[in-house]
Amino acid sequence: MPNTAFLAPDLPGLKAAAAILRGGGLVAMPTETVYGLAADARNDRAVAAIFDAKGRPRFNPLIVHLAELSQVEALATLTPLAWRLAQVFWPGPLTLVLALRDDSLLSPLVTAGLSSVAIRLPAADIARRLLTEFGGPVAAPSANPSGRISPVTPAHVLAGLAGRIDAVIDGGPCAVGLESTIVDATGDAPRLLRAGGLPAEALEAALGRPLLPALHGTVTAPGQLASHYAPRGRVRLDVTAPVPGDIWVGFGRCPGAELTLSDSGDLTEAAARLFHALHEADALAGPGGRIAFAPVPEIGLGRAINDRLRRAAAPRG
Ligand code: TXA
Ligand code: MG
Repeated sequence: MPNTAFLAPDLPGLKAAAAILRGGGLVAMPTETVYGLAADARNDRAVAAIFDAKGRPRFNPLIVHLAELSQVEALATLTPLAWRLAQVFWPGPLTLVLALRDDSLLSPLVTAGLSSVAIRLPAADIARRLLTEFGGPVAAPSANPSGRISPVTPAHVLAGLAGRIDAVIDGGPCAVGLESTIVDATGDAPRLLRAGGLPAEALEAALGRPLLPALHGTVTAPGQLASHYAPRGRVRLDVTAPVPGDIWVGFGRCPGAELTLSDSGDLTEAAARLFHALHEADALAGPGGRIAFAPVPEIGLGRAINDRLRRAAAPRG
């Protein structure tokens, strides 16, 4: 593959990106959550190229991104529950798992052969404009090598995938900074498959009922049990007293911390900073170094932050 092109987020840049997608190429697309590695979801070879560029196992299905709610029904069945959630939260950092239609024309690689499909309408303006320009369904996992830290800047994308993808669109840093919340909406009971950039509390308030946990044995979030979001150093959590040599990442008042998720203890700011902090701490600590995170409360976006931190800290397989 030639050099990865750097595209401006203007009309010529977006037209060039859409042309790459039409030709079966790969484009890193900024969304409000993280950068996605986009390909035409109907093109087997393009979707296969996503898995190759990331080194992603083929059994891990991808999210399909669309510009408009009216495009969903060609791909999947919207249950009453899904309608309700779509109306309140789309476009936004919510992915719905829905029953796949037989005539969807999606590459079976997108769904890893499952009878369900994960769909999201992103809110970020650049993503919406690219999806509108392209006009079809776009498969996009996070634009990082499989198992590594998710990218929230074009520089993060290039650090992991330069030379392996056709282009990256420069959308600057992602506003939310955490991947979407994934809800199984195939039945009447909403099940939380992955905590993410939309707090579970917001979903529960809109539905007036609690989210259920994922059913045992179903496909859930990336590397559910395995190590994921892995920096090269070792990560420890809930550290209030770092030892010399630790790169300490604070939350709230943490005097002497090298980095912080949020000085004021704000969870929205901490979510937006999380992957920046992991990338920076990784660079500071280096291979085999030690990264220590201060405790983050297990409420609102804190649940998704702690989920990502636990995976970053998990023993490597
Ligand atoms: O915010 C996001 O969700 C970002 C941006 C680019 O949209 N995308 C993202 O993709 O995080 P990825 O591939 O890193 O995570 C998508 C997860 C996968 O781990 C997969 O397990 C789950 O979605 N998924 C996809 N299809 C599914 C399905 N049919 N049933 C259950 N889970 C599914
Ligand atoms: Mg990912």
